Amino acid sequence: MNISVITLLFCLIVLVEGRKVHRFRLQRRSHRHHKLPQPHLHLQFRNALRRKYGYTPLRTVNAVQVASESGKGAVLSEALINSYDTNFFGLVSVGDQPFTVQFDSGSSDLWVPSSNCEFCIKKCGNKFFQKSKSKSFRSSGVPFSITYGSGSVKGIVATDNVGFGDLKILQQGIGLVNISDSCSVFDGIAGLAFQQLSMTRSVPPFQQMIDQQLVEKPIFSFHLKSGSSDGGSMILGGSNSSLYYGPLTYTNVTEAKYWTFRMDGIEVHGKGSRRCDSGCKAIMDTGTSLIVGPVMDVLYLNQAIGAKHNATYDLYTVDCDSIDQLPIMVFYIAGKEFFVKPQTYVIVYQDFCFAGLIDMRGLDYWIIGDVFLRENYVEFDWARKRIGIAPAV
Ligand SMILES: *[C@@H]1O[C@H](CO)[C@@H](O)[C@H](O)[C@H]1NC(C)=O
Ligand SMILES: *[C@@H]1O[C@H](CO)[C@@H](O)[C@H](O)[C@H]1NC(C)=O
Ligand SMILES: *[C@@H]1O[C@H](CO)[C@@H](O)[C@H](O)[C@H]1NC(C)=O
Ligand SMILES: *[C@@H]1O[C@H](CO)[C@@H](O)[C@H](O)[C@H]1NC(C)=O
Repeated sequence: MNISVITLLFCLIVLVEGRKVHRFRLQRRSHRHHKLPQPHLHLQFRNALRRKYGYTPLRTVNAVQVASESGKGAVLSEALINSYDTNFFGLVSVGDQPFTVQFDSGSSDLWVPSSNCEFCIKKCGNKFFQKSKSKSFRSSGVPFSITYGSGSVKGIVATDNVGFGDLKILQQGIGLVNISDSCSVFDGIAGLAFQQLSMTRSVPPFQQMIDQQLVEKPIFSFHLKSGSSDGGSMILGGSNSSLYYGPLTYTNVTEAKYWTFRMDGIEVHGKGSRRCDSGCKAIMDTGTSLIVGPVMDVLYLNQAIGAKHNATYDLYTVDCDSIDQLPIMVFYIAGKEFFVKPQTYVIVYQDFCFAGLIDMRGLDYWIIGDVFLRENYVEFDWARKRIGIAPAV
């Protein structure tokens, strides 16, 4: 396993803005000093991301090779899947048992490993839920399966009390995973998208927080940070205006399933390279590290950056010594411009540097991941179904 660091995780909950706005410090793990994982793992990542968004995995010669190695590859994929220097996670409790989870605005379920998931426990070293230790646990016996950017999981639906810090949801629908095909740095996932996307057919945790009056406002927000182990924060119940500049610019959610909105354009500054200039569909996804878009647009923008295609990895690489000279990327949303600097969009693995702008064959919209969120504060307004964005402090 080429992972040398398993970071110790913790979550510090600080009460802000009265009693019902909760701030979670997020933990982050950097891969700056790590070697780039093997190409076949990168393909696995691509295929898992395809499945998360409902596309069939690519059946290339390489993909067949990947399948034959999957026993071994699955474990190693951890190094890559949620890496790319932009991975954020925190702590929740299920039936008073603590788990590290990724807060994912691109899915709608909360799941953790069960004691039946040998793979999760033995191969991945994940924590697992012990039914016998929870009095509030109830199983529904209904099976579920979910596919993510990080792999797929299967298990049964249950309910138990769930804590996000001192904020306690009573009888949250959860997935108890007994089969998983890949490891992550975290034990499970806490989905923050809408109910229509729920594979466990549960009311999502944030809707429960609203229904049980645990949060001040039906809003949560993310302030992701780069450059230190402090990953920034997730705020449940509101926004903190000292974490962003100026007013938030709002754009309506166009389909309340993922956090889908209309983007007006994306370009590499000063290169006359604007794409999606008559508008296109985009999804705000805290659970995806990079910016993902249609093949031709991504090719065009990477050429404008000056990045060169590396066929081994199917990534666009840049010279690690000239990152500071690269142009900034501009995102046009609701009549405003939002920026991402090259120091943020270039992903560094020792001496391998690539642009965090990748393509997905067949995709005709954009997935706006952590590369964007690390420079822009994003508010997710659940009740009014809109997304507020402002440059992050
Ligand atoms: C908002 O964030 C700032 C900076 O982290 C912090 O100092 C402040 O306490 C927060 N605001 C409130 C009202 O808690
Ligand atoms: C896992 O859960 C499924 C239901 O999704 C069940 O059919 C299966 O028997 C369980 N397998 C194990 C190994 O517990
Ligand atoms: C956004 O949605 C609100 C409420 O549905 C509506 O009043 C407003 O006009 C919409 N804004 C835009 C720019 O479409
Ligand atoms: C892609 O980059 C890797 C790592 O630097 C290198 O070993 C490989 O030869 C490159 N592939 C191509 C096709 O340039």
